[in-house]
Amino acid sequence: MLFSFGFPPTIRSFLKSPPCILLLLLLSCTCFTATEAYDPLDPNGNITIKWDVINWTPDGYVMSKKQLNGQAVVTMYNFQQYRHISVPGWSLGWTWAKKEIIWAMVGGQTTEQGDCSKYKGNIPHCCKKTPTVVDLLPGTPYNQQIANCCKGGVLSSWAQDQSKAVAAFQVSVGSAGTTNKTVKLPKNFTLKAPGPGYTCGPAKIVKPTQFIQPDKRRVTQALMTWNVTCTYSQFLAQRTPTCCVSLSSFYNDTVVPCPTCACGCQGNSSLSGDCVDPDSPHLESVVSNPGPGNSLTPLVRCTRHMCPIRVHWHVKLNYKEYWRVKVTVTNFNYRMNYSDWNLVIQHPNFDNLTQIFSFNYQSLTPYGSINDTAMLWGVKFYNDFLMQAGPLGNVQSELLFRKDKSIFTFDKGWAFPRRVYFNGDICVMPPPDAYPWLPNAGFRKEVSLLALLMTSLVALIFHAYA
Ligand SMILES: *[C@@H]1O[C@H](CO)[C@@H](O)[C@H](O)[C@H]1NC(C)=O
Ligand SMILES: *[C@@H]1O[C@H](CO)[C@@H](O)[C@H](O)[C@H]1NC(C)=O
Ligand SMILES: *[C@@H]1O[C@H](CO)[C@@H](O)[C@H](O)[C@H]1NC(C)=O
Ligand SMILES: *[C@@H]1O[C@H](CO)[C@@H](O)[C@H](O)[C@H]1NC(C)=O
Ligand SMILES: *[C@@H]1O[C@H](CO)[C@@H](O)[C@H](O)[C@H]1NC(C)=O
Ligand SMILES: *[C@@H]1O[C@H](CO)[C@@H](O)[C@H](O)[C@H]1NC(C)=O
Ligand SMILES: *[C@@H]1O[C@H](CO)[C@@H](O)[C@H](O)[C@H]1NC(C)=O
Ligand SMILES: *[C@@H]1O[C@H](CO)[C@@H](O)[C@H](O)[C@H]1NC(C)=O
Ligand SMILES: *[C@@H]1O[C@H](CO)[C@@H](O)[C@H](O)[C@H]1NC(C)=O
Repeated sequence: MLFSFGFPPTIRSFLKSPPCILLLLLLSCTCFTATEAYDPLDPNGNITIKWDVINWTPDGYVMSKKQLNGQAVVTMYNFQQYRHISVPGWSLGWTWAKKEIIWAMVGGQTTEQGDCSKYKGNIPHCCKKTPTVVDLLPGTPYNQQIANCCKGGVLSSWAQDQSKAVAAFQVSVGSAGTTNKTVKLPKNFTLKAPGPGYTCGPAKIVKPTQFIQPDKRRVTQALMTWNVTCTYSQFLAQRTPTCCVSLSSFYNDTVVPCPTCACGCQGNSSLSGDCVDPDSPHLESVVSNPGPGNSLTPLVRCTRHMCPIRVHWHVKLNYKEYWRVKVTVTNFNYRMNYSDWNLVIQHPNFDNLTQIFSFNYQSLTPYGSINDTAMLWGVKFYNDFLMQAGPLGNVQSELLFRKDKSIFTFDKGWAFPRRVYFNGDICVMPPPDAYPWLPNAGFRKEVSLLALLMTSLVALIFHAYA
């Protein structure tokens, strides 16, 4: 039962297959979840956009005086447990159903004004049929702000900080229709956060939102409300992984590295883009010069795995009742500081996590009784900022688990995580048959260690007397 959310049986039966087949398998798994846009660790995760029409005002500017302006507050909720939206932030687009225009916006702006040449005097904010809205930056003057706006498009994940997982802007729409019967819902919503990956459903009219007034003595409601739900799929977002896992243990000297070419291959720019050598004398100039490419394209340190992020899981100590793991996240990307980063790790012993040092922790239990998935993130002002590649580009923590003697084992890679996600994207694991092995079966190991100790002691004594 505990294993059923680890590697699927198909993968486990492939334990002996070469790494590339496993990688292919993992990739095909991702694309399966992707087309379904379904994340097994966050099955209800979505971004919901709520559009509340709060009033209709006579539209004095358009040709037909009968038209009305609709003023609406658009609120975006990031209901995803562990996927956030980082810089440069979200952008939301849609297609107007008729000939609507945007007169004005508060707390957001469209990226392009479009062709407003037929308007004289009072020029609209945007005349495009397919406007794209972005957030305003922090520090926007107060008269251009509304509640929850102006975070530069950055949204926290729901588990990390619900108060920062909401965005909002206000929009005044001209030629919108005259009543709630003639208004037509915008179509074809698109959400970029910041790249591709989200798919939005159609707008659906829902029960009008109720607003409790600040004095809490009166409730008003929207004239009309519609919702749009957008879901994420890693497959749509990017074809190459961005993160890999390496493993080690106290009981075996082997450090199992990230799989070679996990995120791309060195010297193959068609797959991975360039990398830099940390010893290169040109390091600084290469890093500071973004070049012709997008500044979001990672510029990574040259490694065999070529991943921007590596998560290392080290089985550190074995006590009688407990065992201890050290987790280190290393940033190999010279172009990215990850703020409010998070990790999701699946391991059957998370139901008995006893102590965690210097990271925040929350259990994710999408299936109720199965408590084997943990979300970990940095402590505010201490290690919530994962610095760009370099000597400071890592964060680490230790986890203490209580053993259940009937299940616990160092055998068969049990002590290693089943799945790891960084910022919501799955990390490439080494193939299970490469995991550090116990030299021998559990108790025999103690015996052989003891034997080894005895022999060396004897040898030492013998040496001393010789
Ligand atoms: C979106 O997420 C919220 C919060 O988890 C959930 O209540 C809602 O049902 C989800 N919507 C869809 C369409 O999945
Ligand atoms: C439109 O408004 C009327 C009242 O003005 C209300 O009865 C009706 O339910 C509304 N329709 C929609 C689709 O919101
Ligand atoms: C929806 O928008 C996308 C991208 O903006 C566009 O490619 C597509 O044709 C649009 N579909 C409709 C039905 O307007
Ligand atoms: C519409 O979205 C809001 C905000 O997320 C939510 O409270 C409401 O339940 C949603 N309505 C429906 C019918 O999904
Ligand atoms: C780069 O990748 C392409 C496509 O996978 C492959 O055909 C080519 O041989 C690779 N080149 C090198 C130098 O590895
Ligand atoms: C990352 O943060 C450091 C310190 O705040 C700053 O010096 C550096 O320029 C930042 N790097 C990037 C790529 O934003
Ligand atoms: C899961 O286990 C951890 C560690 O014992 C505990 O702190 C957490 O409350 C549990 N979560 C649930 C939902 O049972
Ligand atoms: C966690 O502890 C409980 C109670 O001691 C035990 O029933 C359960 O099997 C333990 N789980 C693991 C994975 O050790
Ligand atoms: C350590 O684990 C590796 C597999 O990663 C195995 O090949 C090796 O034999 C193990 N070392 C010992 C001393 O058992």
